[in-house]
Amino acid sequence: MDRRTFLLSTGAVLALPHAGLASPSVLRAEPVKAQILPEGDGTTDMLGFNGSTPGPELRVRQGETLTVRFDNQTSEGSSLHWHGIRLDNAMDGVPGMTQPLVQPGESFDYSFTTPDAGTFWYHSHNRSWEQVAKGLYGPLIVEEVNPPRVDHDITVMLDDWRIEETGALMGGFGNMHDFAHAGRMGNYAKILPSQNSVRIGDRIRLRLINTATARVFPVRFEGLSGQVVALDGMPLATPRPIEDFEIAPAQRVDLIGDVTSAIKFLFILRDDIYEMGSLKIEGENLTPANTPVEALPAPNVLQPKETPDQSLSLKMEGGAMGGRHAGDDIWAFNGVSGFKDAPFARFKRGETAHFELINDTSFAHGIHLHGHHFYELNRDGSVGDLRDTSLVQRGASQKISVVFDNPGKWLLHCHMLGHQASGMKTWVEVL
Ligand code: C2O
Ligand code: CU
Repeated sequence: MDRRTFLLSTGAVLALPHAGLASPSVLRAEPVKAQILPEGDGTTDMLGFNGSTPGPELRVRQGETLTVRFDNQTSEGSSLHWHGIRLDNAMDGVPGMTQPLVQPGESFDYSFTTPDAGTFWYHSHNRSWEQVAKGLYGPLIVEEVNPPRVDHDITVMLDDWRIEETGALMGGFGNMHDFAHAGRMGNYAKILPSQNSVRIGDRIRLRLINTATARVFPVRFEGLSGQVVALDGMPLATPRPIEDFEIAPAQRVDLIGDVTSAIKFLFILRDDIYEMGSLKIEGENLTPANTPVEALPAPNVLQPKETPDQSLSLKMEGGAMGGRHAGDDIWAFNGVSGFKDAPFARFKRGETAHFELINDTSFAHGIHLHGHHFYELNRDGSVGDLRDTSLVQRGASQKISVVFDNPGKWLLHCHMLGHQASGMKTWVEVL
């Protein structure tokens, strides 16, 4: 290999900081006012970062190190979790497991490299059912070293709020009735896009992030002709046409497509369709891309061994209709609620494990593993999509295959955050 080829092929690792990818070096969590209801209606007292919720979009290039001071100016302990980043365990943001709780007025310095290009997000990981619902989250975008050419790269968070007509958030975040059912569902939902308009003919990338604490959004698009290119930050080997899909709490979907009319984000209800927002048309792109949408560079995740080193089953139990309605143990995995001193399982570094995620409850759950991505296995046993959060419908099951290559203590929990709070969480250890 000559020197030039060598330099190019190691570019991802040696990438120098690029101008224009500036991210704030401090995230100050603090009370903020937000315009959640339509313009002209009341504002909402929430929590945010650096004056706004969602917090500022952090952007780095793949392979770079992100260094952020978390400054907690709220009245409660908190921490930041970098959802979906395969990072150093000490930076994972889990109070009591990977770091101390960051008390009001205190700060914590995070610094980690970003091995995967894709759409990620950060959020509070303390009392998250309340702190995330109040707005302590924001997007974290890791750009490809050579990003696909698009006219606009737009981040769109989807969320819902339980809100009064005055704009005040309703209380009762820890309501046991909510926890024992699907979680705290909002009565108002909308999209939070990073820009509001596009041109006809523009090629755009949409990075959808479901930041809701409980709601699975069934989404339909109008005005965009294109492909799904990534799920949970991980590129698909072959992009797929955009059809109706569901996005569970914490999941991400990346789309690349061409604008054919105003882009409508439709939320499909049982007997109705609700518009969660739109990107308006301003002008026309006279030199539209007319190349097919291509796959993003393949992710750098190890392939699982065909015969796993360990096979486990993780049975989701409890909840209303499952005979449990209150307390910390509404939900359980394999009969056990909440953290125990011993991990659910231990893995030697590099081991492949299969999990059968069995949903023996009357509600859907989105199961999230920290520090790793995993492959969903298709019904025929073949290796499917890479994800960090797997939606398992009530009564259904899903097999996943994980290569545990990241040492440390990692949470495994439901990302319906009220379910997590009331028992549906455990942890694994990679030695
Ligand atoms: Cu996005 Cu443990 O969570
Ligand atoms: Cu759940």
